[in-house]
Amino acid sequence: MTLYVIVYLLFINIVTAKINGGPRGRFDDNHARPHGYVSTHHPHYTYHPPNHIYFMCKQCSSLVAYPVYHGTPPTYVYKYREYGGRYGDLLSGLALYNLGRASNEQWHYTLYERRPDEKCSLQIVDQNLFEETTFPCLMMSSFVDSSNNFLKNPHPLDITTAQINVRALVHNNGTVIKVTKDQECVIWHNSTIKNEHVMIPCALLKNYADTMRPHGLPVYVWLPLTLATVIGIYIFCQSCFTQKKSHIDETPCNPTLTTSYFSNNNTVTIH
Ligand SMILES: *[C@@H]1O[C@H](CO)[C@@H](O)[C@H](O)[C@H]1NC(C)=O
Ligand SMILES: *[C@@H]1O[C@H](CO)[C@@H](O)[C@H](O)[C@H]1NC(C)=O
Repeated sequence: MTLYVIVYLLFINIVTAKINGGPRGRFDDNHARPHGYVSTHHPHYTYHPPNHIYFMCKQCSSLVAYPVYHGTPPTYVYKYREYGGRYGDLLSGLALYNLGRASNEQWHYTLYERRPDEKCSLQIVDQNLFEETTFPCLMMSSFVDSSNNFLKNPHPLDITTAQINVRALVHNNGTVIKVTKDQECVIWHNSTIKNEHVMIPCALLKNYADTMRPHGLPVYVWLPLTLATVIGIYIFCQSCFTQKKSHIDETPCNPTLTTSYFSNNNTVTIH
Protein backbone atom coordinates (compact mmCIF):
# COMPACT_ATOMS: atom_id res chain seq x y z
CA MET A 1 0.00 0.00 0.00
CA THR A 2 2.82 2.37 0.96
CA LEU A 3 4.25 1.63 -2.43
CA TYR A 4 1.18 2.97 -4.21
CA VAL A 5 1.44 6.15 -2.16
CA ILE A 6 5.14 6.51 -3.00
CA VAL A 7 4.55 6.02 -6.71
CA TYR A 8 1.58 8.38 -6.65
CA LEU A 9 3.49 11.10 -4.79
CA LEU A 10 6.44 10.75 -7.13
CA PHE A 11 4.18 11.12 -10.16
CA ILE A 12 2.34 14.14 -8.73
CA ASN A 13 5.67 15.73 -7.83
CA ILE A 14 7.06 15.39 -11.37
CA VAL A 15 3.86 16.61 -12.99
CA THR A 16 3.45 19.67 -10.77
CA ALA A 17 7.13 20.54 -11.22
CA LYS A 18 6.51 20.55 -14.95
CA ILE A 19 3.33 22.58 -14.68
CA ASN A 20 5.07 25.10 -12.40
CA GLY A 21 7.14 26.04 -15.45
CA GLY A 22 4.28 28.46 -15.71
CA PRO A 23 2.09 29.90 -18.35
CA ARG A 24 3.63 31.37 -21.48
CA GLY A 25 5.60 34.45 -20.83
CA ARG A 26 6.49 33.71 -17.22
CA PHE A 27 10.16 33.99 -16.46
CA ASP A 28 12.25 32.02 -14.05
CA ASP A 29 15.07 33.70 -12.17
CA ASN A 30 17.86 34.96 -14.33
CA HIS A 31 21.28 33.67 -13.60
CA ALA A 32 23.94 36.28 -14.10
CA ARG A 33 27.40 34.90 -14.64
CA PRO A 34 30.86 36.46 -14.65
CA HIS A 35 32.08 38.23 -17.80
CA GLY A 36 28.71 39.88 -18.26
CA TYR A 37 27.38 36.60 -19.54
CA VAL A 38 23.69 36.20 -18.95
CA SER A 39 21.56 33.23 -19.69
CA THR A 40 17.85 33.65 -19.40
CA HIS A 41 15.35 30.91 -18.79
CA HIS A 42 11.94 31.19 -20.25
CA PRO A 43 9.40 28.38 -20.35
CA HIS A 44 10.09 27.84 -24.04
CA TYR A 45 13.32 29.60 -24.96
CA THR A 46 16.82 30.04 -23.58
CA TYR A 47 18.99 33.01 -24.48
CA HIS A 48 22.60 31.97 -24.36
CA PRO A 49 24.38 34.27 -26.78
CA PRO A 50 27.94 34.10 -28.13
CA ASN A 51 30.27 37.08 -27.63
CA HIS A 52 29.81 38.21 -31.21
CA ILE A 53 27.97 37.10 -34.27
CA TYR A 54 30.28 36.60 -37.22
CA PHE A 55 28.65 37.05 -40.55
CA MET A 56 29.84 37.30 -44.12
CA CYS A 57 27.74 39.74 -46.06
CA LYS A 58 27.45 39.59 -49.84
CA GLN A 59 29.84 42.48 -50.51
CA CYS A 60 32.27 41.57 -47.71
CA SER A 61 35.50 39.66 -48.25
CA SER A 62 35.75 38.40 -44.66
CA LEU A 63 33.61 37.71 -41.64
CA VAL A 64 32.44 40.78 -39.77
CA ALA A 65 31.77 40.76 -36.01
CA TYR A 66 28.34 42.07 -35.07
CA PRO A 67 27.44 43.27 -31.55
CA VAL A 68 25.45 40.95 -29.32
CA TYR A 69 23.18 41.86 -26.45
CA HIS A 70 24.28 40.30 -23.16
CA GLY A 71 21.48 41.42 -20.90
CA THR A 72 18.18 39.80 -20.21
CA PRO A 73 16.05 40.04 -23.33
CA PRO A 74 12.86 42.04 -22.83
CA THR A 75 9.50 40.31 -23.23
CA TYR A 76 8.89 41.62 -26.74
CA VAL A 77 11.83 39.60 -28.08
CA TYR A 78 10.34 36.39 -26.68
CA LYS A 79 6.93 37.36 -27.94
CA TYR A 80 8.16 37.48 -31.52
CA ARG A 81 10.39 34.45 -31.11
CA GLU A 82 7.42 32.47 -29.82
CA TYR A 83 5.34 33.62 -32.73
CA GLY A 84 7.60 31.50 -34.89
CA GLY A 85 7.58 31.32 -38.64
CA ARG A 86 9.57 33.49 -40.93
CA TYR A 87 8.51 36.85 -39.49
CA GLY A 88 8.82 35.64 -35.90
CA ASP A 89 12.44 34.75 -36.62
CA LEU A 90 13.30 37.87 -38.57
CA LEU A 91 11.65 40.28 -36.14
CA SER A 92 13.04 38.66 -32.98
CA GLY A 93 16.41 38.65 -34.76
CA LEU A 94 16.02 42.33 -35.58
CA ALA A 95 15.09 43.10 -31.96
CA LEU A 96 18.20 41.28 -30.70
CA TYR A 97 20.45 42.95 -33.29
CA ASN A 98 19.03 46.32 -32.27
CA LEU A 99 19.58 45.57 -28.58
CA GLY A 100 23.14 44.48 -29.39
CA ARG A 101 23.84 47.74 -31.22
CA ALA A 102 22.08 49.88 -28.64
CA SER A 103 23.80 48.36 -25.62
CA ASN A 104 27.24 48.31 -27.21
CA GLU A 105 29.40 51.01 -25.65
CA GLN A 106 29.65 53.13 -28.77
CA TRP A 107 25.91 53.40 -28.99
CA HIS A 108 23.63 55.26 -26.66
CA TYR A 109 20.36 54.32 -28.14
CA THR A 110 18.74 52.27 -25.41
CA LEU A 111 16.48 55.22 -24.66
CA TYR A 112 13.88 55.69 -27.28
CA GLU A 113 11.34 58.42 -27.75
CA ARG A 114 8.25 57.20 -29.49
CA ARG A 115 6.81 59.56 -32.04
CA PRO A 116 3.06 59.59 -32.57
CA ASP A 117 3.38 59.63 -36.37
CA GLU A 118 6.01 56.94 -36.83
CA LYS A 119 5.49 53.62 -38.55
CA CYS A 120 8.00 50.85 -39.04
CA SER A 121 7.97 47.92 -41.37
CA LEU A 122 10.16 45.12 -42.59
CA GLN A 123 10.22 44.12 -46.23
CA ILE A 124 11.70 40.96 -47.60
CA VAL A 125 13.05 41.52 -51.06
CA ASP A 126 14.02 38.78 -53.44
CA GLN A 127 14.09 38.63 -57.25
CA ASN A 128 10.51 37.44 -57.40
CA LEU A 129 9.28 37.98 -53.88
CA PHE A 130 8.12 40.96 -51.91
CA GLU A 131 6.58 40.76 -48.47
CA GLU A 132 6.05 43.39 -45.86
CA THR A 133 5.05 43.40 -42.21
CA THR A 134 4.88 46.18 -39.63
CA PHE A 135 6.47 46.09 -36.18
CA PRO A 136 6.90 48.44 -33.18
CA CYS A 137 9.55 51.07 -33.97
CA LEU A 138 11.39 50.55 -30.68
CA MET A 139 12.75 47.35 -32.26
CA MET A 140 14.84 49.38 -34.72
CA SER A 141 15.72 52.30 -32.40
CA SER A 142 19.46 52.13 -33.04
CA PHE A 143 18.87 52.48 -36.79
CA VAL A 144 16.75 55.60 -36.51
CA ASP A 145 18.81 58.68 -37.29
CA SER A 146 16.60 61.09 -35.49
CA SER A 147 16.80 59.18 -32.23
CA ASN A 148 19.99 61.12 -31.46
CA ASN A 149 18.43 64.53 -31.12
CA PHE A 150 15.38 63.56 -29.10
CA LEU A 151 14.70 63.61 -25.39
CA LYS A 152 12.14 66.33 -25.50
CA ASN A 153 10.08 63.73 -23.71
CA PRO A 154 11.19 63.51 -20.06
CA HIS A 155 10.30 59.82 -19.97
CA PRO A 156 11.81 58.09 -23.00
CA LEU A 157 11.31 54.37 -23.25
CA ASP A 158 14.26 52.21 -22.23
CA ILE A 159 14.18 49.41 -24.81
CA THR A 160 16.00 47.06 -22.42
CA THR A 161 13.18 47.20 -19.85
CA ALA A 162 12.33 43.60 -18.92
CA GLN A 163 8.60 43.92 -19.45
CA ILE A 164 7.63 45.65 -22.67
CA ASN A 165 4.47 44.16 -24.04
CA VAL A 166 3.79 44.35 -27.72
CA ARG A 167 1.13 42.70 -29.79
CA ALA A 168 2.96 40.45 -32.18
CA LEU A 169 0.52 40.97 -35.01
CA VAL A 170 2.15 39.37 -37.95
CA HIS A 171 -0.06 38.69 -40.89
CA ASN A 172 0.87 35.46 -42.47
CA ASN A 173 -1.01 34.82 -45.69
CA GLY A 174 0.40 31.38 -46.31
CA THR A 175 3.38 32.32 -48.46
CA VAL A 176 6.02 30.73 -46.27
CA ILE A 177 9.20 30.93 -48.26
CA LYS A 178 12.44 29.99 -46.60
CA VAL A 179 14.90 32.74 -45.76
CA THR A 180 17.82 32.38 -48.12
CA LYS A 181 21.26 33.89 -48.00
CA ASP A 182 20.44 36.18 -50.89
CA GLN A 183 17.36 37.87 -49.55
CA GLU A 184 17.64 41.40 -48.30
CA CYS A 185 15.53 42.63 -45.43
CA VAL A 186 14.69 46.31 -45.65
CA ILE A 187 13.58 48.01 -42.47
CA TRP A 188 11.67 51.24 -42.81
CA HIS A 189 11.13 54.02 -40.32
CA ASN A 190 8.48 56.27 -41.80
CA SER A 191 7.26 59.50 -40.29
CA THR A 192 5.70 62.66 -41.61
CA ILE A 193 9.17 64.26 -41.78
CA LYS A 194 10.94 61.54 -43.73
CA ASN A 195 11.07 57.86 -44.59
CA GLU A 196 14.38 56.21 -43.71
CA HIS A 197 15.42 52.69 -44.55
CA VAL A 198 18.26 50.30 -43.81
CA MET A 199 19.11 47.13 -45.72
CA ILE A 200 20.11 44.11 -43.66
CA PRO A 201 20.75 40.60 -44.98
CA CYS A 202 17.82 38.45 -43.83
CA ALA A 203 20.26 35.65 -43.00
CA LEU A 204 21.97 37.91 -40.44
CA LEU A 205 18.65 38.50 -38.68
CA LYS A 206 18.10 34.76 -38.72
CA ASN A 207 21.51 34.28 -37.05
CA TYR A 208 20.47 36.67 -34.30
CA ALA A 209 17.18 34.85 -33.83
CA ASP A 210 19.07 31.57 -33.52
CA THR A 211 20.85 32.80 -30.37
CA MET A 212 17.50 32.26 -28.66
CA ARG A 213 16.83 28.56 -28.71
CA PRO A 214 13.83 26.43 -27.82
CA HIS A 215 14.44 24.34 -24.77
CA GLY A 216 12.71 21.71 -22.72
CA LEU A 217 10.80 18.68 -23.81
CA PRO A 218 7.29 19.23 -25.12
CA VAL A 219 4.39 17.73 -23.16
CA TYR A 220 3.84 14.94 -25.68
CA VAL A 221 7.36 13.72 -24.97
CA TRP A 222 7.69 14.10 -21.20
CA LEU A 223 4.23 12.86 -20.23
CA PRO A 224 4.58 9.40 -21.87
CA LEU A 225 8.17 9.19 -20.54
CA THR A 226 6.99 9.99 -17.01
CA LEU A 227 4.18 7.45 -17.25
CA ALA A 228 6.55 4.82 -18.59
CA THR A 229 8.98 5.46 -15.72
CA VAL A 230 6.22 5.27 -13.12
CA ILE A 231 4.84 2.05 -14.58
CA GLY A 232 8.39 0.68 -14.77
CA ILE A 233 9.03 1.42 -11.09
CA TYR A 234 5.65 -0.04 -10.21
CA ILE A 235 6.30 -3.30 -12.06
CA PHE A 236 9.81 -3.53 -10.62
CA CYS A 237 8.53 -3.07 -7.07
CA GLN A 238 5.67 -5.51 -7.66
CA SER A 239 8.15 -8.22 -8.52
CA CYS A 240 10.25 -7.10 -5.57
CA PHE A 241 7.24 -7.64 -3.25
CA THR A 242 6.47 -11.00 -4.78
CA GLN A 243 10.05 -12.11 -4.16
CA LYS A 244 9.88 -10.80 -0.63
CA LYS A 245 6.80 -12.90 0.04
CA SER A 246 8.22 -16.07 -1.39
CA HIS A 247 11.65 -15.75 0.22
CA ILE A 248 10.43 -14.26 3.52
CA ASP A 249 13.23 -11.76 3.15
CA GLU A 250 13.40 -9.04 5.78
CA THR A 251 15.08 -6.32 3.67
CA PRO A 252 12.58 -3.68 2.55
CA CYS A 253 11.72 -3.24 -1.07
CA ASN A 254 14.53 -1.35 -2.76
CA PRO A 255 15.52 0.74 0.30
CA THR A 256 17.97 3.09 -1.46
CA LEU A 257 15.38 4.03 -4.03
CA THR A 258 12.65 4.93 -1.53
CA THR A 259 14.88 6.86 0.86
CA SER A 260 16.48 8.90 -1.89
CA TYR A 261 13.08 10.00 -3.19
CA PHE A 262 11.99 11.02 0.25
CA SER A 263 15.17 12.88 1.06
CA ASN A 264 14.48 15.02 -1.98
CA ASN A 265 10.97 15.69 -0.80
CA ASN A 266 10.92 17.34 2.59
CA THR A 267 7.18 17.16 2.99
CA VAL A 268 7.00 13.43 3.69
CA THR A 269 9.03 11.43 6.19
CA ILE A 270 9.28 7.68 6.45
CA HIS A 271 9.82 5.88 9.74
C1 LIG B 1 7.43 53.16 -45.50
O1 LIG B 1 7.77 53.76 -46.71
C2 LIG B 1 8.12 52.86 -47.77
C3 LIG B 1 8.55 53.67 -48.95
O2 LIG B 1 7.71 54.72 -49.19
C4 LIG B 1 6.94 51.94 -48.07
O3 LIG B 1 7.29 51.00 -49.05
C5 LIG B 1 6.54 51.21 -46.80
O4 LIG B 1 5.39 50.42 -47.04
C6 LIG B 1 6.26 52.19 -45.67
N1 LIG B 1 6.00 51.46 -44.44
C7 LIG B 1 5.02 51.80 -43.60
C8 LIG B 1 4.83 50.96 -42.40
O5 LIG B 1 4.31 52.76 -43.80
C1 LIG C 1 0.13 37.54 -49.75
O1 LIG C 1 1.49 37.41 -50.16
C2 LIG C 1 1.73 37.67 -51.52
C3 LIG C 1 3.16 37.36 -51.84
O2 LIG C 1 4.04 38.08 -51.05
C4 LIG C 1 1.35 39.11 -51.83
O3 LIG C 1 1.56 39.39 -53.20
C5 LIG C 1 -0.11 39.33 -51.49
O4 LIG C 1 -0.45 40.69 -51.68
C6 LIG C 1 -0.38 38.95 -50.04
N1 LIG C 1 -1.80 39.02 -49.77
C7 LIG C 1 -2.30 39.64 -48.71
C8 LIG C 1 -3.77 39.61 -48.57
O5 LIG C 1 -1.62 40.22 -47.88
